[in-house]
Amino acid sequence: MKTTVFVSRKIPRAGIDILEEAGMAVEVNPEDRVLTAEELMVGCRGKDGLLCLLTDTIDRAFLKKMSQLKGIANMAVGYNNIDVNAAAERGIPVSNTPGVLTEAAADLTWALLVATARRLSEAERYLRAGEFTGWGPLLFLGGDLPGRTLGIIGAGRIGTAVGVRSQGFRMKIIYTDPNRNMVLEEELDGRRVELDTLLAQSDFITLHVPLTEETRHLIGSRELRRMKKTAYLINTSRGPVVDEEALVEALQSGEIAGAGLDVFEKEPHIHPGLLSLPSAVLLPHIGSATIETRTRMAEMAARNLVAMMKGERPPDCVNL
Ligand code: DGY
Repeated sequence: MKTTVFVSRKIPRAGIDILEEAGMAVEVNPEDRVLTAEELMVGCRGKDGLLCLLTDTIDRAFLKKMSQLKGIANMAVGYNNIDVNAAAERGIPVSNTPGVLTEAAADLTWALLVATARRLSEAERYLRAGEFTGWGPLLFLGGDLPGRTLGIIGAGRIGTAVGVRSQGFRMKIIYTDPNRNMVLEEELDGRRVELDTLLAQSDFITLHVPLTEETRHLIGSRELRRMKKTAYLINTSRGPVVDEEALVEALQSGEIAGAGLDVFEKEPHIHPGLLSLPSAVLLPHIGSATIETRTRMAEMAARNLVAMMKGERPPDCVNL
């Protein structure tokens, strides 16, 4: 009998090809939308494997009902959508897609940082609204980058790649991470500091931590109050790392200068306060959204699932 796998949403074809070439019967959610919990269970019923996305919630209750699964491949580097411990208790391996999206995520972080500092979204809206009547000496003044301090919270692969890019803008780097980062320190002259020092000294703060119970609301009103009034906060990691209510208050009261966000606390719901704030640049979670990167992510997730279906340890296992 053929191994059967469910893919929770349309993904780049290359990923499906890998599954089919490995001899699997592949069922793909035919609709380009997130399935409800019930629909996801219907899709997975009787299947051996699941290739899912960061928008699918794979919790203890789901795993209890779908205990026949022999492996779950998440097509994302972050896997906070999956209760990996509950999966491990049932002997179900879970994999992610590290490394292949580092550059795309760092590029997008940088695009967002520049867009926020130089008020690009606001300026484009103004132009499209037909309000541009000519060059003005005070038109859309933003903040300089060269010579400023970039504070990187979380110096893993993506945080490091963001640091590397800052050199083109001649910025100084400080960072926080449980581990020392020799690329940031030795190649880029970066300094590892405590979080409070980073908050107080940075002109731009960029978040690159995974979402865990320790990092949920890592940035709240206390942290925002410690930031410079001229500082900007950039988040391309996970929305709940920032207390969005506190961020809206900080932006409204001018406690910080602006925020660039690719991720949101209750995605896809966006806090109405953010929508009405010109100092916030908002993107629809497109950090890894390049054709090449999403193709690599689909291939990597598929290869992991193939390994799991053969009873092998997947190359990018996160739980066993
Ligand atoms: C990830 O892989 O975690 C990214 O957020 C996907 O864009």
